[in-house]
Amino acid sequence: MAQLAINGGAKTIDRPLGKKWPIFDEREEQALIEVLHSGLWWRGGARGEQPSKVTQFEDAFAAYQDAQFGVAVTNGTTALECALKAAGVGVGDEVLAPALTFVASATAIALVNGIPVFVDVDPKTFNIDPDAMEAAITPRTKAAVVVHNGGYPADMDRIHALAQAHGITVIEDAAHAHGSEWRGKRVGALSGLGSFSFQAFKQLTAGEGGIVITNDQDLAEKAFSYHNIGRIPGRPFYEFHRLASNLRMTEWQGAILLAQLSRLDEQVATRERNTAYLAQGLREIEGVAPIERDDRVTRWSFYYWNFFYDQAGFDGVPRDRFLEAVRAEGAPINVGAHGRPIYRNPIFETMDNIAGVPVDFREVECPTAEHLFANVALSLSHTVFLGEQEDMDLILEAIRKVRAHVSELT
Ligand SMILES: Cc1ncc(COP(=O)(O)O)c(C=O)c1O
Repeated sequence: MAQLAINGGAKTIDRPLGKKWPIFDEREEQALIEVLHSGLWWRGGARGEQPSKVTQFEDAFAAYQDAQFGVAVTNGTTALECALKAAGVGVGDEVLAPALTFVASATAIALVNGIPVFVDVDPKTFNIDPDAMEAAITPRTKAAVVVHNGGYPADMDRIHALAQAHGITVIEDAAHAHGSEWRGKRVGALSGLGSFSFQAFKQLTAGEGGIVITNDQDLAEKAFSYHNIGRIPGRPFYEFHRLASNLRMTEWQGAILLAQLSRLDEQVATRERNTAYLAQGLREIEGVAPIERDDRVTRWSFYYWNFFYDQAGFDGVPRDRFLEAVRAEGAPINVGAHGRPIYRNPIFETMDNIAGVPVDFREVECPTAEHLFANVALSLSHTVFLGEQEDMDLILEAIRKVRAHVSELT
């Protein structure tokens, strides 16, 4: 008789795991009511002109990420665009970006008229591979977008050294990494500038939102100007200095984000505890494995938690077949690392110029990214790790069951 749920057997997990997202309580309610009654629903043209939740949040979040300056914006994509503009990226400038990430990490480059150069990833971390980065650098390389995929910090020692040696600005796309640390310092402003997303599913959210952070005052002033239609603080309100859009965050978002931030440390601690337990359990099952954490990753906060599938360890069963089976058991495991290599999206397959500069991405091939996406990458949402250890046991039980009955899948 069939044992696996996919073949009609009993399901291992019959309830949702972790916590329903988003999480909120009277802190968010009070903060929103406060904004409502204040009548100040936007920050205004400059910092410090009026009491502002956005300004408070910028300061609090920048400090949380060990940065001096923060510029809150509408979302993580515009945060990247704003950071790239502040870094001076323009027509024909090459910008390195990992092949495996959310598409915005590369479309933001093209949106500011830069040329994305897709770089392969490290099979042990899913992050941009510093050796491949080095090989991709040319005299036209202006910057690098470094994504901390699944919140796991990229090798910032190597990346910072490369950036210094070649005069490249690093933009950390930390959309998954609120609270992550490299060598005891929070990510985002470790090198040049960093961007974050506060979109609905992220571990810090206002439904939409983003921020640029940096320790460089000049870059911070440029980012502020680019987020505010090209205004410069101290100059007349109707005087514009840069070609720039309006990326300003509303006070509603600032209020929600301040409340969300008050919960983040506790949530990171719960996730760290549960992932350590799950990782240990995965090590004991043939065919799956966690990322083996580098000692320099002193805190790992994540949007989703990446781990590995090994087809050989599952008697040759393809990753996607395993996923169907384990999901049928009720374990909410997904394809990891944000799906296909991003140059495989129609937007890049059909793009033939960026601001008049000819491009052709059809021949791009990053073999490690292709293999990870197609055969290896697995992930679990951060919300799954906000529950009890019992939830981790259920996930392990579901995987063990599929492993024990793998012959039913062939
Ligand atoms: C790595 C990465 N960069 C940028 C973004 C864009 O953020 P947003 O959706 O807030 O525009 C995302 C969104 O998921 C992301 O995962």
